Amino acid sequence: AHQWRGVIEEYRSWLDIPDSTPTITLREGGTPLVDSRWLSELTGAEVWLKVEGDNPTGSFKDRGMTVALSVAVGEGAEAVVCASTGNTSASMAAYAARARIKPLVLVPQGKIAAGKLAQAIVHGAQVIMVRGNFDDCLRLSRGLAADYPVALVNSVNPMRLEGQKTASFEIVDFLGDAPDVHVLPVGNAGNISAYWKGYTEYARAGRSTRTPRMLGWQAAGASPLVSGAPVSDPETVASAIRIGNPASWHLAVAAASESGGRFRAVTDEQILTAQRALAANDGVFVEPASAAGVAGLLTEVAEGTSYAGRQVVVTVTGHGLKDIDTALSTFTDLVDTVVDADVDAAAEAAGLR
Ligand code: F0G
Repeated sequence: AHQWRGVIEEYRSWLDIPDSTPTITLREGGTPLVDSRWLSELTGAEVWLKVEGDNPTGSFKDRGMTVALSVAVGEGAEAVVCASTGNTSASMAAYAARARIKPLVLVPQGKIAAGKLAQAIVHGAQVIMVRGNFDDCLRLSRGLAADYPVALVNSVNPMRLEGQKTASFEIVDFLGDAPDVHVLPVGNAGNISAYWKGYTEYARAGRSTRTPRMLGWQAAGASPLVSGAPVSDPETVASAIRIGNPASWHLAVAAASESGGRFRAVTDEQILTAQRALAANDGVFVEPASAAGVAGLLTEVAEGTSYAGRQVVVTVTGHGLKDIDTALSTFTDLVDTVVDADVDAAAEAAGLR
């Protein structure tokens, strides 16, 4: 029987990597496009969710990490480093374990979700907590990689974008063409840049007849691409995108402008509302940052923007189980219902009788 082989083996001829590159894979990618009945009814569009939480470590980062780690290993690296708001470090640690090389992680102290920290630790990463934010961590990672024998695998490493662009390929391969609109959350801005690279490469090769408008959504307290200037103290409940100075700034701005798209921001409240609504209406539980695109689409619907008759893909970037503390803390009205181990008592408590 056929098993999905992971993004390198599935798309090798489309990846700009050395021929001799080994394949370090957890069979990432091949994630489902789930039809959103809820958002389709709300918008009058055909809305698809690209569910990236279904990747091996629970986020889209695995697509980039398989390529970055494989190329690093091919080049003889014995250690890798990244700065992270959590998901990149979880993914890098898993792929480094598979490659049997040493993972070193720099994260903003107290600002990453517990699930992601657990992943990095369990996979054997050395985790350094930095008194500072993600942007500080990225500066440190670059500094360490410049001066010591450790390969940088943040998305400033172009191999990350090579891997992440495969999500666009999968979407076009499944839908038969590119969608009209692609909506996604934006933090360090690597992913929107990678998607755009994938869409344009496929269009140039005749695999699609068009490219989508790229709509990037940031958190209001961390929205440098909306304001046009770095934010020195980014703040948002969506810790994954708590970033004030995105590394792929220029690529992302080019993606938005060349595609006829744009960047906008949603509030933390809109993000958490969208997270809950997506889970309750479509059965898809994503982490807060991952709901920013859905929140954006809801915002535009409320503003009267029409997507009727359009085909829209919304990338939901990471699994909801990554950050259960935030998910549970939004249920301020949560009260335990405790009963004796008795059918009648359970029926009574459930309002069934
Ligand atoms: N969604 C999730 C769940 C993320 O973890 C990230 C980025 C993004 C969206 C934004 O993607 O940075 O390519 O614009 N997380 C990085 C990390 C920064 O360290 O895990 P981007």
